[in-house]
Amino acid sequence: MFITFEGPDGSGKSTAIKSLSDFLSKEGIDFLLTREPGNPHNQASKKIREIILNNNHKIPDMTEAFLYAADRKMHLDTVILPALSEGKVVLCDRFVDSSMAYQGEGRKLGIDTVRKINEIVIEGKYPDLTIFFDISPEQSKIRVDDRAPKDRLELAGEDFHQRVYQGYLKLIKMFPKRFKVVDATKSRKEVFEDVKNLVVDKIESLKEK
Ligand code: TYD
Repeated sequence: MFITFEGPDGSGKSTAIKSLSDFLSKEGIDFLLTREPGNPHNQASKKIREIILNNNHKIPDMTEAFLYAADRKMHLDTVILPALSEGKVVLCDRFVDSSMAYQGEGRKLGIDTVRKINEIVIEGKYPDLTIFFDISPEQSKIRVDDRAPKDRLELAGEDFHQRVYQGYLKLIKMFPKRFKVVDATKSRKEVFEDVKNLVVDKIESLKEK
């Protein structure tokens, strides 16, 4: 089973995923935790991450979309698909929806264009479940501002992050079956509980099939 986590920068995604991993380990569930860009299982991916996020780099928007897509292709072929074929639950912090929201809407390349680029990459391998951490751009900005230093995407400006958020809302409408929304403004404990319940329900529902 393939589960992805999406949301604006500063949505508390990483904290909730960490708690979820601890929970799944205790339950004895065989899972693999990974992320984009730059999954930790592949040295070359880490280099692509450095290229994309380095503040000193000037990268044209379409090139940025292809860099994320190239990283994704390697990630799928060398990490995600092998783990899925071993029957593992794969938890991925950001995936194709990040490209459609950030490059499609944020960079204004268009969701359809970015979707087309990525269809060659993912070949229909959309997640079984995508959990969206819902927090307004205004609130997430307060959280990101508390962190330092900021990467190239975090520095992209308020209008950019507004468009990213609107992009996610469009994606939720485009893919209503796999998207589930969690209120990321709640307490850490409540957010974790909501995420855990969604994941446990999904695992149970697939077992029943
Ligand atoms: P990261 O530090 O991993 O952010 P987070 O903890 O918020 O997930 O940085 C990844 C950045 O890259 C983040 O700002 C979102 C952006 N991104 C894209 O623009 N397109 C993509 O396809 C992906 C996977 C990420």
